[in-house]
Amino acid sequence: MLSDNDRTVRREGKSGVTPLFLVTGKFGRLGRNLLGAGLLLTACVASPQSATLSSSAGSSSADADEARLVPGDLLGKRIFEDPGLSEPPGVACASCHEATSAYRGNNGSTIPAIAKGSRAEVFGVRKTPSLGYMAYSPDFSFASLPNDVTGKLETVPVGGQFWDGRAVDQERQVEGPLFNPREMNLPDKAEFIRRVRASPYASLAQAVYGDTVFDDAKAFEKLASAVAGYEASPRFKPFTSKFDDWLEGRATFTEEERRGYQAFIDPKRGNCLSCHAGGESSEHEEKTTGQKSPLSRNPRNWLFTDFTYDVLGAPRNPAIPDNADPTHFDLGFCQRPNADSIAPPDVNVASLCGAFKTPSLRNVAVAGPYFHNGALATLRDAVAFYFTRDTNPERWYPRNANGDVAKFNDLPPEFWKNVNVEQPPYNRKSGETAVELDQEIDDIVAFLKTLTDKSFAR
Ligand code: HEC
Ligand code: HEC
Repeated sequence: MLSDNDRTVRREGKSGVTPLFLVTGKFGRLGRNLLGAGLLLTACVASPQSATLSSSAGSSSADADEARLVPGDLLGKRIFEDPGLSEPPGVACASCHEATSAYRGNNGSTIPAIAKGSRAEVFGVRKTPSLGYMAYSPDFSFASLPNDVTGKLETVPVGGQFWDGRAVDQERQVEGPLFNPREMNLPDKAEFIRRVRASPYASLAQAVYGDTVFDDAKAFEKLASAVAGYEASPRFKPFTSKFDDWLEGRATFTEEERRGYQAFIDPKRGNCLSCHAGGESSEHEEKTTGQKSPLSRNPRNWLFTDFTYDVLGAPRNPAIPDNADPTHFDLGFCQRPNADSIAPPDVNVASLCGAFKTPSLRNVAVAGPYFHNGALATLRDAVAFYFTRDTNPERWYPRNANGDVAKFNDLPPEFWKNVNVEQPPYNRKSGETAVELDQEIDDIVAFLKTLTDKSFAR
């Protein structure tokens, strides 16, 4: 059995978001998410223990000191910060997920987009995501949700950890980096347990899981659950941004931020909420009142992702060493292990080639470079990409030898049809002057900057 403490803290992380999934939405995919994730969350929330430690998570400030961590989370922190758990030693989880940078980073890599691993000159292939708010990701699942454009029900992947959702939850995620030869490069679980047993925090592990923890058949799972518990602790989800203050009436937006917020939520303009979801509230009862309800003022209902997957067609990043091979493509979801065997029969896995998980936009201003491959250096470029990818592709993609713009150049041609081209903001064709568009982009960037938690502000 895993410790109740760790289970509980972890559950709180997810159950804290339950209201998000229990109500009807009004923005395309948002509605789809609420429906589906509500179904899939019922299985993993509301355990009998979930009330016991609720005061320990979700309420205090980001710079909570260690004394405020329950012992299981403190153990998780020790493991997370231990550079002795890589081979050769020197790289901890925290080397790539730095507490001061919203838990992202690249271990001092010379290539900003991707981290270097524990061995010299060994690099990863994807950008390190921020771990902020990722404890809220529901366990990976397929859910039946209405298509944004057609409204027809379709089965789609939701939740999980990693850009391609290949780890079902944060407990299962931990083994990824530990044994990845491009990251921490440990040989096996036995070696991990041996090193924790020899560490200064071995006695803490015994205090949390019992004296015999290291001889337990479930030792690895127990230690991994401590890490997941730590990742669900308040410092990873502080809710201390200007936006949170604004929601709760403690701050006012500048004119630019206010315009950016409006464009962000407007389904005809940014339409950003349709994937970077937020604002649903349990009081949101359009159906019964027949009236448009206001968006929620509860920060916990604003995670800025619905944890679904989409194909954006980000430009190829030539700085990634693996991309020197022109036949190499990172296809995201469809390339994850067992994609074909786990997908229900009505899911066409090939249509998910190029799909990556929608990241939360909380702390996005300090989480660059942008997209799964870090192809765009600045937040302004990431936002501008949405509005001009189809109107001015030459801005984002290189030209082929014959002079044509190599649009969607990070995907093989057979998957170009997977790229989302239908809904706003991609449908900008003409009619807007560059000046208007520039202002809208600047406004949205200003709004996104309000999503930086105080503990991560630079
Ligand atoms: C060498 C850099 C590096 C190290 C060390 C590292 N990570 Fe990561 N982490 C990454 C990258 C890169 C990804 C994205 C990989 C992918 O999606 O395929 C990631 C993804 C994650 C995710 C998924 C987040 C999301 O948004 O889906 C979690 C959780 C995580 N790491 C936790 C950890 C833990 C716990 C450790 C230590 C046991 C660790 N990481 C060590 C670079 C690193
Ligand atoms: C149809 C779904 C969808 C819509 C609509 C959408 N996004 Fe995204 N967004 C995603 C996905 C999926 C990714 C990750 C894609 C990748 O890395 O390949 C992403 C990534 C991003 C990133 C990069 C984050 C990071 O950490 O690298 C930013 C910034 C962003 N979106 C902002 C916006 C803004 C602003 C809007 C509205 C103008 C918007 N998005 C609309 C799905 C969407």
